[in-house]
Amino acid sequence: MKCTKILIILLACGTSLYAQKNKKAAKIKPRNEFVTELMAKMTVDEKIAQLVQFTADGTTTGPKSGDNFIEQIKKGNVGSILNATGVEYTRKLQELNMANSRLKIPLLFGYDVIHGYRTVFPINLGESASWDPALAELSSKVAAAEAAASGIHWTFAPMVDIARDPRWGRVSEGSGEDTYLGIQLAIARVKGFQGADLSAVNTILACTKHFAAYGAAEAGRDYNTVDMSERVLRETYLPPFKATVDAGVRTFMTSFNEISGVPATGSKFLLRDILKGEWKFDGFVVTDYTAINELIPHGFAKDSIHAGELSLKAGVDMDMVGGIYLKSLKKLLAEGKVTEAQINDACRRILEAKYDLGLFEDPYRYNDVKREKQEIYKKEYLDAALTVANKSMVLLKNSNNVLPLKKEQRVAFVGPLVSDEWNIIGSWAATGDRNGYAVSVEEGVKKIISDKSKISFTKGIEIVDQRRDMMKAALDAASTADVIVAVMGEFENMTGEAASRTVIDLPGIQKEFLAELKKLGKPVVLVLMNGRPLTLSWENGNMDAILEAWFPGTMGGDAIAQTLYGINNPSGKLPITFPRTLGQVPIYYNHKNTGRPYLGSKDPEQKYKSRYIDSDNSPLYPFGYGLSYTTFEYSNLKISSKELTANGTVKVTVDVANTGNFDGEEIVQLYIQDEVGSVTRPVRELKGFKKTALKKGEKKTVEFDIKPDDLRFYNIDMQFVAEPGDFKVFVGGSSDAGLTTEFMLVK
Ligand code: GLC
Repeated sequence: MKCTKILIILLACGTSLYAQKNKKAAKIKPRNEFVTELMAKMTVDEKIAQLVQFTADGTTTGPKSGDNFIEQIKKGNVGSILNATGVEYTRKLQELNMANSRLKIPLLFGYDVIHGYRTVFPINLGESASWDPALAELSSKVAAAEAAASGIHWTFAPMVDIARDPRWGRVSEGSGEDTYLGIQLAIARVKGFQGADLSAVNTILACTKHFAAYGAAEAGRDYNTVDMSERVLRETYLPPFKATVDAGVRTFMTSFNEISGVPATGSKFLLRDILKGEWKFDGFVVTDYTAINELIPHGFAKDSIHAGELSLKAGVDMDMVGGIYLKSLKKLLAEGKVTEAQINDACRRILEAKYDLGLFEDPYRYNDVKREKQEIYKKEYLDAALTVANKSMVLLKNSNNVLPLKKEQRVAFVGPLVSDEWNIIGSWAATGDRNGYAVSVEEGVKKIISDKSKISFTKGIEIVDQRRDMMKAALDAASTADVIVAVMGEFENMTGEAASRTVIDLPGIQKEFLAELKKLGKPVVLVLMNGRPLTLSWENGNMDAILEAWFPGTMGGDAIAQTLYGINNPSGKLPITFPRTLGQVPIYYNHKNTGRPYLGSKDPEQKYKSRYIDSDNSPLYPFGYGLSYTTFEYSNLKISSKELTANGTVKVTVDVANTGNFDGEEIVQLYIQDEVGSVTRPVRELKGFKKTALKKGEKKTVEFDIKPDDLRFYNIDMQFVAEPGDFKVFVGGSSDAGLTTEFMLVK
């Protein structure tokens, strides 16, 4: 009997080995050969179908489209589907497609996996506060592994829009206001999603969006007009996009907005001249949701046929949900308004992506039920989410070291988000669970404090609702505590898409509740869950400590609790400026000096300067700012030479000491000012940063290299060059760092 069993096992192994060998033998031809042969067999209708994407039922991420996607798949009219998730559902749709595809061309499944698929990481603005590309790559890698295990081939991420206006709800999805930080994180996220091998079953296509300058919408109102010089476009907004092309990103998404009169989705300048021309991008371009249709209300296309013509000519390869390519391209081709070469180019780019994913070899390779069960919520993924959440925490204020809390203290936890498991994972949370799986602050605290008599949890108020009937219970609980912790912020849907606000205070009566808590005469710690900078001047003046937690994701409650009790020493730095008042917006650190720079209260000229009569010019919390439970001292700033030659390098070194009582990490930042240029230059720009771990009492020397390439900008003739002249260097733990030295760039 035993012998038979062994034989069966050996046989099974042999069979599977043979199958694999045989499958290996079935490997298809090299990509170019395969795609060329396939396209030679395709009809024009079949080519156009590849340029068509519809949305599956259920979640829509924009205005509902009328087309019945199932019917369209049956007719062989679809190349890609978005918003379908899960191995079973995507397999079913793929089977329906393959049964109706004459040439067996598989569907491509896309989905918004922005900061996690099921294990949800902090929103990207929060993750960006870690200033840690390795963590951004890790979170994207985990997101890809879970999404790919659930039948997803393609994510619409990273979002790399530079944003300087906190009224805009989509600041939550990006890396904040700075181009240099944005570049590092954009590259990391593309690497995380796509990995080294797209044919691996735990990697997916990335999609750099929204091309371009979507974050510069006037008045911070989503989808609004963008108008800027080509210099600002190329110097501030485009570099993160270009960096992802150099990092090998395979798809781009056009933005909804116009730029200086031309909608991005119809912009030949953006798509063919810059992206596919100058940058030699060889992937494919999908529009944002119905963005081709929107060329009509933009006043750029007279009807949908015209919109289709303009988009294909501009360089759009795939029509997301609009249904216009399907209805217009064959007619436009017959009328000679578009060419077969344009259709072929778009089709080829899409087929090449499907080939590289391995979908022609096996359309169901991402549909493994067992692997889906194994991958979702893997402990190592949840651990990664906790690590990223901890590193995204930014300590904004900590008077008298009221934080970290001590275990023996009686702490009253209050506020609308104190037990929240819904908003904590933020917007764009893909298939993240909002009904109990995420760790709330209450749950996180209870894991640390075993003596339940030391802690209490009472909401007191809602986020927006003005009801006050619960406030007394919370005030009563707080009145017997040593310390009060108020967990407050925004609803998750008050940021993300179509969520611009004209007031960016804490919503509702949260500030009023804080004032009541303050009257109790105990230390009050404010913990914030929000997706944008808020105006916190009153809070900064009245709270004893403020911790910016953003929307910290599935493990957010653990991260907040571990930070409050000192298990995690916060090390995050703001990736975006927090203004004193909304009236200062747009406000960002790398601004121009103007001809009448205001030097603050010490300025001998107080009136005729670029200033406000009712506010200081400085922000409440500047870009790059963040405290620690310990303190760091900078000293001994040196530069290897006062002259930088055209092919040389100067080294900047600085000593950083941990002069406090906690081990910690400091994000040491290097800023450079080009003092005079053929066009005016920002007062300073981030050109390097290094996260440095320092045990208490430890001192390290941190080093930066500066090369001429770091100094390039678009000069008066729009040439991207470095101009000889004087440069200032600033080093410190924030963009208002004062430690300075200088050098000269010589011809
Ligand atoms: C939405 C968003 C975009 C998203 C797309 C697909 O409207 O603007 O970021 O990727 O549609 O959901």
